[in-house]
Amino acid sequence: MIAMFPGSFDPFTIGHADIVRRALPLFDHLVIAIGENAAKTPCFPLNERLEAIRAYFKNESKISVISYDGLTIDAARQHHVQYFIRGVRSVGDYEYERSMADANRKISASTGELIDTLLLYTDPQLAYISSSLIRDLYHHGADITQFVAK
Ligand code: PNS
Repeated sequence: MIAMFPGSFDPFTIGHADIVRRALPLFDHLVIAIGENAAKTPCFPLNERLEAIRAYFKNESKISVISYDGLTIDAARQHHVQYFIRGVRSVGDYEYERSMADANRKISASTGELIDTLLLYTDPQLAYISSSLIRDLYHHGADITQFVAK
C-alpha cells in the first residue's frame, strides 16, 4: 500500500516529520509530495524544501520526496497512491482538511480508483507549530532551527 503526504511544507516542520514517522508503519511506501497551494506564496525555494526533506529522511528507504505542479490527485495517480495522509493540529484545521479530503475523494472516484485521506492528530506537544508561524518568526529574524526538520 502506497500513501502520499502532500503539502506545501514551507518549511517542513518537526510536526510534519512526526506525522510521517507515525504513518510510515502503516504503508509499504510513503511519498512526501511538495505541491503548490494557490492561496500561499512560498517563502523558501522549492529546491531547498526538497533537499531538506530528502536529507532528513535519507536513511529511510520507504520514503521518497517529490514535487509536483497541478493537481495532487494527478501526482498521486502517477505514483500509484492509495491513500493521502494529513495531520490535524486543532479544530481550526478540521474544515479545511475535510473539504480537501472530500474534494480529492470525489475527483478521484470520478477518474479512477478512489483515493481516500487518513488524518492523524498531531502530537499535542507539537500542535502549536505551523509553517506559517515559522515563516513569520523567520521573517522577523528569529532562529527557527528548533522547529524545522533538518
Ligand atoms: O500544506 P498545505 O498548504 O495545507 O498543502 C495544501 C496542498 C498543497 C496539499 C493543496 O493546496 C493542494 O493539493 N494543491 C494542489 C492543487 C490541488 O490539487 N488542489 C485541490 C485540493 S482538494
